[in-house]
Amino acid sequence: MNEYDTERMLNVLAEQNYSKTEDPEEADLIVINTCSVREKSEQKFFSLLGRLQNLRKKGRVLLAVGGCVAQQEGEKILDRAPYVDLVFGTSAIDRLPGMIDRVMASGKSQVDIDLTGEEAEPGYHPLAARSSACTAFVTVMRGCNNFCSYCVVPYVRGRERSRSQEAVVREVQSLADRGVKEVTLLGQNVNSYGCAGEEPNGLFPQLLRAVDRVEGIQRIRFTTSHPKDLSGSLISCFREVEKLCPHIHLPLQSGSNGVLARMNRCYTIEEYQAKVERLRALCPDIALTTDLIVGFPGETEEDFQQTLDVVRRIEYDEFFSFKYSDRPNTRASEMDQKVEEEEKSRRLSILQNMQKTITLRRNRALVGKACEILVEGGSKRNCVQQMGRTGTNKIINFEGPSHLHGEMVMVEIVSAHPHSLQGRLV
Ligand code: 5AD
Ligand code: SF4
Repeated sequence: MNEYDTERMLNVLAEQNYSKTEDPEEADLIVINTCSVREKSEQKFFSLLGRLQNLRKKGRVLLAVGGCVAQQEGEKILDRAPYVDLVFGTSAIDRLPGMIDRVMASGKSQVDIDLTGEEAEPGYHPLAARSSACTAFVTVMRGCNNFCSYCVVPYVRGRERSRSQEAVVREVQSLADRGVKEVTLLGQNVNSYGCAGEEPNGLFPQLLRAVDRVEGIQRIRFTTSHPKDLSGSLISCFREVEKLCPHIHLPLQSGSNGVLARMNRCYTIEEYQAKVERLRALCPDIALTTDLIVGFPGETEEDFQQTLDVVRRIEYDEFFSFKYSDRPNTRASEMDQKVEEEEKSRRLSILQNMQKTITLRRNRALVGKACEILVEGGSKRNCVQQMGRTGTNKIINFEGPSHLHGEMVMVEIVSAHPHSLQGRLV
């Protein structure tokens, strides 16, 4: 979601004749897009801000802070860092140009954290900033009504609101017209797409089918689906919607029913596993990824062992794992029985080591197999190598010409590593 917002910021600024530079020394405007989902990213932001202070004081550069921390802290950012010129919240991206004008005219810092004033249909899309990209994100809904007890998102991104199906399809079509082959539909909980926040009513599967009909698009992905709302009709899409990639990110968070209840996740581990079984029965090759938190308040050794058991049983393709951190306003931040930092680190490293072994084993099982990938660009590590992704979202590096960018090609997997695979063009 933040990456998408960064691209929207780039577009809004491009319309004001700003262009992108990687060198802060030569910038006229520095925008920091912040994330406050976990404490670590928030700390990183404040230390970056400290580092930019001299540059701001020395030159004519304007310093802008956007995103979740801006939304959460508002004016308080100016108390802590008075040299900041603009603080703009998660719904204020469209209003950035007006804010810049006001700072220029008055020389005074501006703050806009109004969550209600969002433009319903942004008339632009992220591709303008990256005209050669063959993949793109498309937001279908924003905000979240779930209030998981550890999570700051409902406070910094507000309540759920969805774009219309027509607007989403129109955006996808215009992306396809510019050469985009793969779209990822984004929302905090795509199952609530189009709902007023009550029962999921199948509007997201309907949207998937509509996007499936867009000519030129070859792959569709989506993220994120809350396990409690993952409906039978969405599960069926993995068989019925032709362009939908066989990969689902289904955040589990904990393998203990007690912890899940205190997290306010509204599902049990048994219900979650039953959905995984249905997904795998319907689409045997589906890749499954998840998010896990260790050291939630009151998480005992036994709770943690239950998480390890589930990870062992389900065998995820990959996961993101985090140490629990207190977030402002959340219910979990008020809970007692906080787990010591050292213990959280111990649990995280056990969990991650277990997954490394599982991922490597699953990747090795792919050696010798042929698969279709979308070539996205040069490999991050090696410039002769190209990089592509399988439908299951695995990264494959292979030697090949750069004119393959944006093409679907077949490769044979020749070797496996923990985070990527090496392939050969066939
Ligand atoms: N502490 C640790 N991890 C968190 N996440 C969200 N809030 C917290 C928190 N307070 C993780 C969850 C979520 C992912 C985006 O970030 O696992 O799925
Ligand atoms: Fe946060 Fe829960 Fe909403 Fe995800 S579903 S954004 S974890 S409150």
